[in-house]
Amino acid sequence: MHNKIQNSSILITGGAGFIGSYVVEELLKSQPARIMILDNLIRGSYDNMQSFIDNPVVEFVQGDIRDTALLEKCVAGADYVFHMAALRINACAANPRGGFDVMLKSTFDLAELCVKHKVKKVIYSSSASVYGLAQHFPTPETDNPYDNQTFYGGAKIWGEQLFRSFKFMYGLDYVALRYFNVYGARMDTDGKYTEVMIRWLDCIRDGKAPLIYGDGSTTMDFVYVRDVAKANVAALLSEVTDQSFNVGNCEETSLKQLLEAILKVNDSALEPEYREENTVNPVSRRLADNSKAKNLLGFEPTVSLEEGLQELSQWYFEKKKATELSI
Ligand SMILES: NC(=O)c1ccc[n+]([C@@H]2O[C@H](COP(=O)([O-])OP(=O)(O)OC[C@H]3O[C@@H](n4cnc5c(N)ncnc54)[C@H](O)[C@@H]3O)[C@@H](O)[C@H]2O)c1
Repeated sequence: MHNKIQNSSILITGGAGFIGSYVVEELLKSQPARIMILDNLIRGSYDNMQSFIDNPVVEFVQGDIRDTALLEKCVAGADYVFHMAALRINACAANPRGGFDVMLKSTFDLAELCVKHKVKKVIYSSSASVYGLAQHFPTPETDNPYDNQTFYGGAKIWGEQLFRSFKFMYGLDYVALRYFNVYGARMDTDGKYTEVMIRWLDCIRDGKAPLIYGDGSTTMDFVYVRDVAKANVAALLSEVTDQSFNVGNCEETSLKQLLEAILKVNDSALEPEYREENTVNPVSRRLADNSKAKNLLGFEPTVSLEEGLQELSQWYFEKKKATELSI
């Protein structure tokens, strides 16, 4: 296959973030001429970029995608764009107007600039949130998005539709990737909405009973972050355009099963404690059907939940130890 990455110039918005930093590492394997990262570090960090920040191919611009003049400077000269900068689902719910500015207006500005500067292809980070509670399990891309109730999911649906219309009107090539529940080393560990996996790892470390809110039957499809980065690169390399793809691990795991798996990889015999559910989660099931990505992009996940949890646990405990030593 013709290597589109070699000698090309690539912009990654949100490239200092969790998934974006792995996409940079994956791209660097194919010798691009330049990778420009535009990130305001609201959630991204220098720690995430440690493996490549000193690479002369990588140019980090600390700035905001809402700064249209800066965004234009970054888009100009890019052959390809990965659009990953976004607010998280809870941040959108807490501040929908902020969500509008980042997820809708700036995505529109970006699409317009990509047309103006003749970007050859955009890879857009969408989400399984577009489905709300899906109609089918496993969920194919043809399930409709009308059950989504979140601003974040709505913004991602709109983003996909924005790029579809720009393909139709201006010929801008794009692929949208609907990630399921992405996890792995470098995931958020300190934020207000820290993922349940990290809270449980803290319990294991401190020998405290891990808490499950509700009955633990809610299911998710946990896909390892390195696999998600591979899906991004596959979407760029393929000739496919104007399509959305699920990116999951195609395994349905309940919170109860997830806890059992985390306890197992850490040789822990802790017993969970159940608490009344304190948030309303309208999505009780997630399970991806990846067959479209397998057939058209040649993408298949490679990291099992056990392997991924092992890697995550090791990274997290080492990080904690390093922080303690530095205090
Ligand atoms: N993590 C998941 O489970 C998941 C699932 C579905 C979709 N996604 C999508 O994947 C993409 C990457 O997510 P992630 O998990 O790496 O999240 P992340 O928060 O780690 O990465 C997003 C990055 O965007 C940056 N950013 C946010 N607002 C910005 C702005 N206004 N200007 C410049 N930079 C800004 C943040 O600093 C961060 O580094 C996002 O679009 C997200 O919606 C993630």
